[in-house]
Amino acid sequence: MCGIVGYIGDKKASPILINGLLRLEYRGYDSAGIATIEDDKIEIKKNKGRVNKLYELDGINDLKGTIGIAHTRWATHGKPSKENSHPHMDNSNSFAVVHNGIIENYHELKSFLIEKGYNFLSATDTEVIPNLIHYYYNQDKLDDENKVLRAVKNACKNLKGSYAIEILSKYNRDKMIVVRKDSPLVIGKGIGENYISSDIPAILSYTKEFYLLDDNEIVELSRDKVQFYDKDLNIIKKKIKSIEWGASSAEKDGYEDFMIKEIYEQPRAIRETIGAKLDNNHIEIEELEFNKEYLQSINKIYIIACGTAMHAGVAAKFTFEKFCKIPVEVDIASEFRYRDPLIDERTLSIYISQSGETADTIAALKLAKSKGSKTLAISNVIGSSITREADYSIYTHAGPEIAVASTKAYTSQLVLLTILGMYFAEKLGRIDKTKIDNLKADILKLPSQIEEVLKETKLVKKIANKVYKEKDMFFLGRGTDYAVSLEGSLKLKEISYIHSESYASGELKHGPIALIENGVTVIATMTNPDLLEKSISNIQEVITRGAKVFVITSEDIKNEELSEIIKIPKTNPLISPILSVIPMQLFSYYISKEKGLDVDKPRNLAKSVTVE
Ligand code: M6R
Repeated sequence: MCGIVGYIGDKKASPILINGLLRLEYRGYDSAGIATIEDDKIEIKKNKGRVNKLYELDGINDLKGTIGIAHTRWATHGKPSKENSHPHMDNSNSFAVVHNGIIENYHELKSFLIEKGYNFLSATDTEVIPNLIHYYYNQDKLDDENKVLRAVKNACKNLKGSYAIEILSKYNRDKMIVVRKDSPLVIGKGIGENYISSDIPAILSYTKEFYLLDDNEIVELSRDKVQFYDKDLNIIKKKIKSIEWGASSAEKDGYEDFMIKEIYEQPRAIRETIGAKLDNNHIEIEELEFNKEYLQSINKIYIIACGTAMHAGVAAKFTFEKFCKIPVEVDIASEFRYRDPLIDERTLSIYISQSGETADTIAALKLAKSKGSKTLAISNVIGSSITREADYSIYTHAGPEIAVASTKAYTSQLVLLTILGMYFAEKLGRIDKTKIDNLKADILKLPSQIEEVLKETKLVKKIANKVYKEKDMFFLGRGTDYAVSLEGSLKLKEISYIHSESYASGELKHGPIALIENGVTVIATMTNPDLLEKSISNIQEVITRGAKVFVITSEDIKNEELSEIIKIPKTNPLISPILSVIPMQLFSYYISKEKGLDVDKPRNLAKSVTVE
C-alpha cells in the first residue's frame, strides 16, 4: 500500500517527486525516499518518517537530476527504518527500484541470489528485485539498447505476488522502466516530459492526460516517448485518457484537513452521483444492459467489499430485498474469497470499492467471475483495476477522496446502490410503483438535507468535547440505523483511537449489555418510525444501567434522561444512513482534533489496501 512517483523531463526531478509523494502519503507514511540520476551515478536520499522529513536530509536540495523515482512506504516486510525504505539498489549500484506490492516468493529468490553471491542490506521483499534485474543483465550476452528492458522482463517473469515497480538504471540514463501487476500505476503524459504515479490526483497539477496500465505491462519512458510492451516485450498500443477532475479537487481549498473538506463536499458529491442517472422521475443507467429476463433469473445478489464500502453494502441490502425481492448477502471480501461461496450463473455479484484497488475485493470479483457470476463494480476511480476486471462498472463520481477515513465515498456509494436497487425494481415490476417514485423523490432531496445537517454542527462539537477522553463507546440501532452504526463506530476507531462497538439494539440483552456501566457513552440512532418504540425501550435499558445516551434521530423524542438529541431531517429509513452518518463523521472528526491527532493520516492505516 505504498505510493510511488516518477518523473522524466527537463526540470529538476526532486521537487516534483516530493510534491507527488506528499499527495500520496495517504497510501503509507512510515518512510520515504527518492533516487535521481546525476551524470552516470544514481543518487539516493531516503529515511524513516514522513515525506516532509526528506527536506531535512543532507544534500536533498543539491539533487540536480531530471529523471527520478520516489516512494512513500507502508511497511509490510521489514520495520520502518532507513535501511528498509525505498529506493533499493542492487549490489553493483547500477539499478534503483521502488516497489508497491508484495513479492510472495522473495525468500526463494533471496536464497537463489545469495547462492549467486549477492548480499542483502534490508529486511524487505523489494530488495530482491534490483538484484534479480542485475543478475539477468549480466546473464545477457547481447549488448544492445534493449538490454536493461530484457533484464527487467526476465526478472519479472520470476516474481510472484503484486507489484508496481519503477526502475532507474545507470546503463540507461535517459530512460526509466515501469511494470505493473496487481498494484495501481498510471502514467501522466506531458510535453517533453512524463510522469508516473500510483494514482491520478497526485500528478493532476502537471497533466490531465493519462495512460492506465493493465497487469503485466512493461513501459519504457523517455522524455518524449512512452513505449508499452506486454510481458514478452511485444509492442502494444494504449489509448490516452483525459481526466476531468480539476487539480484543486485534490487540494484542501482552505479547509484544515481533507476529511472535513470531504465531509462538506457531500452535497455536491451526491448531486454528481445522482447526475444523469436519476433525472426527475426517470432512472437510466446507460452502462448496464440488464433486461427483465436476466433480472428475473437472478437467485441471489452478493455485495462484496471491505471497510466503509462494505458498510454501504449492509445498508443497501434493505433496498434490494424490499424492492427487488431478491435475497442479498453482504460479505467482507477477505472472508468471501476464502470460503468457497455458493455462486453460479444465476448469481449477480456487486463489488464496492472507492479506490477500485483493494486487493481482497478484486480477488473476490475474480473468484465469482470464474464461477460464472456476472460482476458489477461500483467505484469512484475511473479506470481503476476493479472496473477493468468487472463485466460492468458504474461510478460514484464523488471526486477524489484523499483522507484515509472515508466519508463522501460512503454516502455516494449508498446513493448509487439505492438508485441501482430502484432501477432493478422498476424492470422487475415486483413492487408498487408509487413506493419507487417516493424513494426517488427522497433521493433528490438528499443534497439539500445534508446541507441542513452541515449547518448545525455546534451540538456535535459540544458532545465531542464532552466525551473525547473516553476509552470505550457504543453505537446502537435497528435496521438501517444499525447499518449506519457500524460505520459510525469504524470512523471513531479509525481517527480517534477510541475503542467502540456497534450493536443491533435488539442484541444488547444477549450479552453486550454486560459492558454497560455508569457513565459509558452510547450513541443511539433512531430514524425509523416503525421501530421507534422498540428502540426507545432498548435505550431505556442502558440508561437504567448508567449510560450517557446521545441520540441521532429524525423523530420527535421527548425523554429527559437522554443526554442530547441531534435532530436530522426526515427521510425514507432506507436512505436515512446518508443523513445520520454525517453527525457521526463530524463526531469522530472533532474528537480526533480535540485529541490533537492527525485526522487525515491515522496511525497504521493506508487509504488503499492493495495487499492482502
Ligand atoms: O477503496 P475501498 O473502498 O475498496 O476501501 C475499502 C476500505 O479499505 C476503506 O473503506 C477503509 O475501511 C476506510 N479507511 C474507511 O474509512
